[in-house]
Amino acid sequence: MPSRPGSSVTLDAFTGRYAQRTHGMTASEIRALFAVASRPEVVSLAGGMPNLSALPLDAVGKLMGELVQTRGAQALQYGSGQGVPELRELICEVMALEGIEASAEDVVVTVGSQQALDLVTRVFIDPGDVVLAEAPSYVGALGTFAAYQAEVVHVEMDDSGLVPEALREAIGRVNAEGKRAKFLYTVPNFHNPAGVTLVESRRDEILQICQAAGLLVLEDNPYGLLGFDAPPTRAIRARGGQDDVLYLGSFSKTFAPGLRVGWVLAPHAVREKLVLAAEAAVLCPPTFNQMVLADYLSTQDWQGQVAAFCGMYRERRDAMLDALGQLMPVGTTWTHPTGGFYVWVTLPGGLDTKVLLPRAITARVAFVPGTAFYADGTGRQHLRLSYCYPEPDRIREGVRRLATVLDEEVELRATFGATGPLRPSRRQAESPSPDMA
Ligand SMILES: Cc1ncc(COP(=O)(O)O)c(C=O)c1O
Repeated sequence: MPSRPGSSVTLDAFTGRYAQRTHGMTASEIRALFAVASRPEVVSLAGGMPNLSALPLDAVGKLMGELVQTRGAQALQYGSGQGVPELRELICEVMALEGIEASAEDVVVTVGSQQALDLVTRVFIDPGDVVLAEAPSYVGALGTFAAYQAEVVHVEMDDSGLVPEALREAIGRVNAEGKRAKFLYTVPNFHNPAGVTLVESRRDEILQICQAAGLLVLEDNPYGLLGFDAPPTRAIRARGGQDDVLYLGSFSKTFAPGLRVGWVLAPHAVREKLVLAAEAAVLCPPTFNQMVLADYLSTQDWQGQVAAFCGMYRERRDAMLDALGQLMPVGTTWTHPTGGFYVWVTLPGGLDTKVLLPRAITARVAFVPGTAFYADGTGRQHLRLSYCYPEPDRIREGVRRLATVLDEEVELRATFGATGPLRPSRRQAESPSPDMA
């Protein structure tokens, strides 16, 4: 609506009419970044896009064509709100790799695991309910929790994942305030954004703490099969959690996110509510995409493909860790992921990644500032780097550009006396190679 002369400019003429729940909806840092970070001259270490160049696209194209020709009328039709039965059976086989014994009856196929997050939150959260979530947490989950007006209480992690004692304390604090925590949201494997994995020895304990407190566990596991060194760790759901754990899976990282197929494995009673919520939202998940996946899983060497992805991501992880080790300023620390896509970097005291981001973009490298991963706006000292998409040489160049920005900041602060222990990097960064310029 154009503003009248003399009136103040209204940016959004609908402001007074939006529902309360929209107040928590703000553009994530990642979203605002994508426009600039996707320019070819910028090395994006920001997004978590899987690298699909290793997929057998010819074979996928062929099976899609055959699907339309042979079963097109079914594939292009509405389907069940719970998802295609054949795919749900295959999903149970996928989950068996992490020790889960499940019936296809209890699987609900969703539009990516992002929709599973939405459905679970819709079914369990009233405004003001507490969700316990790791500090830091996946930005997309925080967005969903905000949209349903949940209060997020963060729980500390260390290099071994969520800290059981911190969980006990957080539950105690929430109870003492007379509030109600409904579930614990956790990403146990190759955490986004922290890059750490919950060690075996803590998994049973965390489940027991939640069971004793009457809390559900929302186990979000899109990266579990992308381990570089060891077979998958047994899921929390597989440790006697069939009545207390809602397990979320996805084909986005092990196959392709464009199909938008994920799932939730829920206790039987909850399953029914989730299907009703899913039907209210989308009627049914896309039949064609589910049938493509069912054909892919049953006719292709999909586990060999996942192994190929792992080899590629391992090489990129190595490139990133090597470059960080050579170039980061003294006092910087980072996690050492054994799978997945992400490294979590902690800068020396006083450096603010939100302030540094525009400078980094000018220097043609993008990262995600830590604040994106905390519901309470903290996290300025951290940043997330992802190594999944760029080639190893680009990763090294991206880290080099980042190190230059950090070194400049450290020197600036040293000059103006704000720094204390900060010193420039161990090794001076090289000038950019011509092909990277
Ligand atoms: C931890 C986590 N959960 C859920 C998702 C959503 O994945 P999708 O909706 O593509 O299955 C992502 C995507 O990056 C993620 O990292």
